[in-house]
Amino acid sequence: MPVITTIDDLRRLHKRRTPKMFYDYAESGSWTEQTFRENTSDFDQIRLRQRVAVDMSGRTTASQMIGQDVAMPVALAPVGLTGMQHADGEIKAAKAAEKFGVPFTLSTMSICSIEDVAEHTKEPFWFQLYVMQDEEFVDNIIARAKNAGCSALVLTLDLQILGQRHKDLKNGLTAPPKLTLPTMLNLATKWRWGMGMLQTKRRQFGNIVGHAKGVGDASSLSSWTAEQFDLRLDWDKIAKLKEKWGGKLILKGILDPEDAKKAVEVGADAIIVSNHGGRQLDGALSAIRMLPSIVAAVGDQVEVHMDSGIRSGQDVLKALALGAKGTYIGRAYIYGLGAMGQEGVTKALDVIHKELDTTMALCGRRDVKTLDREVLLVPEDFEGRWA
Ligand code: GLV
Repeated sequence: MPVITTIDDLRRLHKRRTPKMFYDYAESGSWTEQTFRENTSDFDQIRLRQRVAVDMSGRTTASQMIGQDVAMPVALAPVGLTGMQHADGEIKAAKAAEKFGVPFTLSTMSICSIEDVAEHTKEPFWFQLYVMQDEEFVDNIIARAKNAGCSALVLTLDLQILGQRHKDLKNGLTAPPKLTLPTMLNLATKWRWGMGMLQTKRRQFGNIVGHAKGVGDASSLSSWTAEQFDLRLDWDKIAKLKEKWGGKLILKGILDPEDAKKAVEVGADAIIVSNHGGRQLDGALSAIRMLPSIVAAVGDQVEVHMDSGIRSGQDVLKALALGAKGTYIGRAYIYGLGAMGQEGVTKALDVIHKELDTTMALCGRRDVKTLDREVLLVPEDFEGRWA
């Protein structure tokens, strides 16, 4: 068993153990990947204030996200094709999250279905919705999420069309993988992954296949998005979906203060400041850079969460100190899952928790809920002067 001390250790193992097309799918941004890169490098520009001779006993990272108790304000983000990174990946990640005491968010484009995850977990999870043109399908999937006891709907707003990720096209990404010669040669080196996949029946988009009509290639994420996603999604439709759902609503993909204000108007319970991990609009600013102006625009009118670029507990602390009430990890737990299944997801959460707890203490704080701008050193021009 290798000694794992960082999220990057898990990334390297993930790369070694998982078929190239799925590792590449996770580890991509769109086009030049500028936004993908800056999501992480911008975190590095922010520094921490070392404070001393402060009582460090009795520390806590416990908090709340949308009124739910969390062991730390770090949820698992929705990630498509998670069950291709490791057999039954969504079930494994949901179980790890449940044990740790943080929310798990299931993607519409998951391999394990809503019902699969509900059957294998006790705590309610969150469901992420992509709005499709087929209204019947949307009504149905909302009803399925309600029946499964999901305690929040996470509506993604930044992916009506897919930002191009070159690697996915070059690898011929599908779920399950089509057995071309290069793919077979690569799979031959991933025996651990293959054994897992042979032992599960969950190898297709579980929320979709058998539930939706009229799709050319049900194994391809890019065909799906191109043929099915609703190009006309707008604020009126969001208001209607909120009515239909009737529960807690989180709007994901807000990167502009004006859109954050619209989210308040529509009555969202929370927004996620996000650029989809740099996978959509390449050239957009990093989520951590946009966070302060969005927090300033909406204040306490809506709970502000953020994702995109978090790879450590220090990153979590920086986001919280800049005003986020909650954060999400996507790739950071997917690396763990691809590396070591459920145990790897737990490891990712442990690594981040320990980093968050220790860093908070060395900044002179004992309670994650008290983190504020005072613990940071932020370059004066961090948000940039853009016209
Ligand atoms: C969404 O499912 C993505 O691939 O970013």
